[in-house]
Amino acid sequence: MAHPAVSALQIDEYANPKVFDRERSQLFHPGTGFSYLDHDRLWAGSGSRRSDGDPRLLITRENGKVRALANLCSHALRPLVDDDIVNERTVITCPYHQWSFRRDGSFVGGPGCEFADDEAGVAERRALDLREFETIEWCGMIFVADVDRVAEFDADLAALDSALKRRGIDANIGSDWVLHSSEDDHYDADWKIFLEVFGDCYHVPPFHDGLSAFADCATLEWEFGEHFHAQFLDFAHVDSSSAQYAKWADGIAKDAAGRGVELDELAVAWIAIYPNVMIELYAGLRVISVVIPTGPNSFINRAHFFVREGTEEHAPGLTAAMIAAYAETAVQDIELVETRARGIATARAFDLGNAGYLVQTSGIGPEAGVAHFHAWWRRTISLPR
Ligand code: FES
Ligand SMILES: [Fe+2]
Repeated sequence: MAHPAVSALQIDEYANPKVFDRERSQLFHPGTGFSYLDHDRLWAGSGSRRSDGDPRLLITRENGKVRALANLCSHALRPLVDDDIVNERTVITCPYHQWSFRRDGSFVGGPGCEFADDEAGVAERRALDLREFETIEWCGMIFVADVDRVAEFDADLAALDSALKRRGIDANIGSDWVLHSSEDDHYDADWKIFLEVFGDCYHVPPFHDGLSAFADCATLEWEFGEHFHAQFLDFAHVDSSSAQYAKWADGIAKDAAGRGVELDELAVAWIAIYPNVMIELYAGLRVISVVIPTGPNSFINRAHFFVREGTEEHAPGLTAAMIAAYAETAVQDIELVETRARGIATARAFDLGNAGYLVQTSGIGPEAGVAHFHAWWRRTISLPR
């Protein structure tokens, strides 16, 4: 059964500069929508850093207070920070003419900058402060949010929390999870296709032989909120043709035995929080990935891998096996994303008009996440601003 045509994305809504401009202002505009910026497990303590999810913003942390600031020097609008290195100094100094700012965004000064000692001088100085945006924190993650809709986003995250808790898990990457590595992959495709592939369990059995022998798509359960979808899959318990997935299944059993705990039946929870962050809670591995659009037909997928402390002690070689298994599946997903991008271009060249994406929602609804994402996009792109 196909989902209602009213919300399905049409081919001219992909790789389209006009649509992309609208997405920038509706979905990725700090202060308008709701989008992921950073995670406290990526860096701790006080300091500042370019946001993980949006290079146009800075994150600062000080005495437990997190701020999202425009990464834009008020002197001549150059980015203040162009890398992901944590700055532990109390001021952020622009490299171009040495203007500097405190972690709360307030302007400190710059060479030759003088202000009168009266009200007008103070106002002139204040006008140079960095713009600050409203944030929401959830499970160590920082989001930038429309200040008028904070209650709506909080309610949605609470719904996600209860969906996870009902299954005995939570999305917290607690103190015993450590960052193993991070990776950026560049794609030639519209960013929305990545979200589609993430919400599509239909392709897993035919296209991911390794993954489908690890997690059983017949056990798929969905949870939905206004701004998210989540999939839950149990272990498949079948022999895998992938040596890495076989090592993963074997290793986590050893790891559980080493820790003296029962291995849960849940193999993975895949959570997408729209527009662009995904949290994958596997037995033994956690992955946060953020899709950062770089143009109408290009994006970066930035993935962070976390493993539990003591993993190598209990199951030597498990970390490398999990990362290698994940990479096998990721390569297959790159093909899924880029073939669809090329197919959409061909459909447009052939003038196929409203050719859509015929989402399969019958049975367990293996592509229900795609339909949900399309409906969210359709609803959100047209909200008044
Ligand atoms: S652009 Fe930042 S100090 Fe000039
Ligand atoms: Fe996939």
